[in-house]
Amino acid sequence: NKGKYEHYMQKEIHEQPESLKTTMRGRLIRGGSCKAKSVLLGGIKDHLKTIRRSRRIVFIGCGTSYNAALAARPILEELSGIPVTMEIASDLVDRQGPIYREDTTVFVSQSGETADTLQALEYALENGALCVGITNTVGSAIARNTHCGVHINAGCEIGVASTKAYTSQIVVMAMLALAIGDDTISSQARREAIIDGLFDLPKTVKEVLKLDQEMKDLAQLLIAEQSLLVFGRGYNYATALEGALKVKEVALMHSEGILAGEMKHGPLALVDETLPIVVIATRDACFSKQQSVIQQLHARKGRLIVMCTKGDAASVCVGGSCRVIEVPQVEDCLQPVINIVPLQLLAYHLTVLRGYNVDQPRNLAKSVTTQ
Ligand code: UD1
Ligand code: F6R
Repeated sequence: NKGKYEHYMQKEIHEQPESLKTTMRGRLIRGGSCKAKSVLLGGIKDHLKTIRRSRRIVFIGCGTSYNAALAARPILEELSGIPVTMEIASDLVDRQGPIYREDTTVFVSQSGETADTLQALEYALENGALCVGITNTVGSAIARNTHCGVHINAGCEIGVASTKAYTSQIVVMAMLALAIGDDTISSQARREAIIDGLFDLPKTVKEVLKLDQEMKDLAQLLIAEQSLLVFGRGYNYATALEGALKVKEVALMHSEGILAGEMKHGPLALVDETLPIVVIATRDACFSKQQSVIQQLHARKGRLIVMCTKGDAASVCVGGSCRVIEVPQVEDCLQPVINIVPLQLLAYHLTVLRGYNVDQPRNLAKSVTTQ
């Protein structure tokens, strides 16, 4: 039931304040005078000791689920102190990459039925790793075949392009990082700040959804373009990849997410006064580096659309003209949840304006159960 919305994708984008609430329900503990704020993930609490002892955490997934894991990687590394590596499921299987008994492998999948991810799971089980599932579908093959896991609880997602599952997956993995790091005193203040940020997140997502009309106007400007680049780094490298994936899969427009640190190693050659480029430059430890990326793109007369923190419009666009998308600031590791929303809206409006099918893009299926 689409309710007041025209398409499922639109409904699911606008549902995110609620889906994030259900993802966190019963899992965040407010703390009190003598009790610290903490996270309780019923599905993994008995496995936390094993996870903390593992020599490596390996995230495995495809498409949007892979991107969600990439967004959560920095906070997991920070709070656990364990090396975290990333694997696209099909590539791990193609390479027969090394997986060890001392590894914790984490399988991220909205549907829980993706053939590539399932094959990687079989492979990790054979190699004796601890297998943890993060899935939206209770009773799915991944939920059944992993040793333990966390249900995303984002509610059923019908649009082929994953939106609300993405933001809920990031939140689950941030909670996973908090749970793993829970025994470390030195990071307690940081963890408590993130937990406060999680409590406020649904409200902030509601605020960023107000950019709907602005994103529709931007889509109108981009309607006839051939290509859109998206530059991000740090926490928001994943936002660049995921924003580009949304644009290409539903709006059927070429789009590429680029790690801004790689700009000079090739992509800069593409920059001219015609190609539209989104640069994600919200406040975090990478902000000044992104400012210099913007200056270099200006110097090549790049057509820039800069996503920045509210109030930063004037300071990000020095030395050139650009369009700005201003978003509210949250804890750095949660910022990808906010930053993807305008790009989801942009992809949605671009698709409708270009006259394509938003909920069932050509050649794609919601659940990819064949290889
Ligand atoms: C569980 C209940 C929830 C209830 C809550 C109350 C289920 C599905 N969940 O939620 O309804 O409100 O207790 O305390 O009944 N699992 C995997 N692999 C996965 C995902 C999950 O093995 O990919 C396992 C978990 O290890 C766990 C079980 O499935 O044993 C349920 O996981 P989850 O729903 O995340 O647990 P809770 O949040 O505790
Ligand atoms: C993109 C999209 C796909 C899926 C991918 C994995 O919007 O939906 O990239 O993310 O097919 O699917 P799951 O998460 O079900 O394993």
